[in-house]
Amino acid sequence: MTDLSLEFCGIKYPNPFVLAAAPTTDKEEMVGRAFEAGWGGAILKTTSVETEDVSLVYPMMTGLDYDNKRLAALENIDLISHHHIDVVEKRVRILKKEFPDRVVAASIMGQAKEHWEELVQRLEAAGVDLIECSFSCPHGMPEKGMGSTIGQNPELVERTARWVKEAAKRVPVVIKLTPQIADITVAAEAVKKSGADGVCAINTVKGILGVDIYDFVPHPKVRDKSTIGGVSGLAIKPVALRCVAEIARSVDIPVTASGGITTWRDAVEFLLLGARNLQVCTAAMQYGFDLVGDLKEGLANYMAEMNFSSVEQIVGKSLPKLVDHGALSRDIKVVSRVDEDRCIKCGRCYVACNDGGHQAITIGEDRVPQFDEEECVGCAFCTTICPVYCLEMERVEDK
Ligand SMILES: Cc1cc2nc3c(=O)[nH]c(=O)nc-3n(C[C@H](O)[C@H](O)[C@H](O)COP(=O)(O)O)c2cc1C
Repeated sequence: MTDLSLEFCGIKYPNPFVLAAAPTTDKEEMVGRAFEAGWGGAILKTTSVETEDVSLVYPMMTGLDYDNKRLAALENIDLISHHHIDVVEKRVRILKKEFPDRVVAASIMGQAKEHWEELVQRLEAAGVDLIECSFSCPHGMPEKGMGSTIGQNPELVERTARWVKEAAKRVPVVIKLTPQIADITVAAEAVKKSGADGVCAINTVKGILGVDIYDFVPHPKVRDKSTIGGVSGLAIKPVALRCVAEIARSVDIPVTASGGITTWRDAVEFLLLGARNLQVCTAAMQYGFDLVGDLKEGLANYMAEMNFSSVEQIVGKSLPKLVDHGALSRDIKVVSRVDEDRCIKCGRCYVACNDGGHQAITIGEDRVPQFDEEECVGCAFCTTICPVYCLEMERVEDK
């Protein structure tokens, strides 16, 4: 068995795969089943003090299909848990007793300083391993001055994170950041200054997945109205990867990644760009808790193939290869080449190059694409279009 353990904020996780704060972690019975399936940790869905009014609306989710495939993205207008801290305290006790080797974290959100302090103190007394603070929910909560209202203002980030960190006597404090900010590294820097232990990047991305074009109501429809929601899943992976990389390369603080992690390859990409811990929400909701078996097996196989003896060795390995645009090499020429045996002669590369590229492809009688090396600038658009992946860029000369 490959050792997949990885330390994050001073805590050793048996493997880096963690259930993110979401419906999947809103019952101890569900988290128990997830731990049995093999998840290294779970963040219990965001909770609040008993006086906080959490008024949920239904339906609260809608999906984005692409090419008749589900689920390119999920949008939710869920809020924090309607289970208050009294329920979550009990959950922490039960889960820590039954699964002492798993990391039981809890997500919290407060309106006032006393709320944040009370939440931390009660959860610490219940035996929680780590506290995550949501400064990032993009819908509903900002209307009450909570969620991403804090995350979008570095001064509020630093002040609120410091309240929580000072109230926490034993456990690490992680701040979950919003991508809805011009420069997420400024927020991460504010967390660092507060003394908190780590950041989570990212929460959902604000969006509207679609509109019913016949009754004009955007989705999800709550009677005859909708509201702007939070988008998660595959479609937000590029934003999450970018945020994780930006923080990891410029702020000295551990990062737990959240946003679109679906396969072991996604997991490896986030590790390579600097994440030390991997949170999964939408994919676990869609495919179930057994997904973690595939994630662990894929990661272990990758490590064997690449001769990595620990997950730690993967963390941040791509960061030196991510440079500013001006630092990229301009002294090579690449052109597109076709593998004729695999080409299905569909002509899509021709159309793409003709109308979206540099008119470097011609199609002969046999319908196999021919490339004009002089005209081909090497933009690579055709390789992104080919449905059977039979085009590749090849280096032809140093300029
Ligand atoms: C239905 C739903 C409810 C969520 N509730 C919370 C929450 O209570 N607290 C929180 O910090 N994040 C919450 N999230 C955000 C997820 O934890 C996660 O950060 C986000 O979905 C991106 O990860 P993913 O692409 O793996 O889903 C929720 C997400 C969904 C889909």
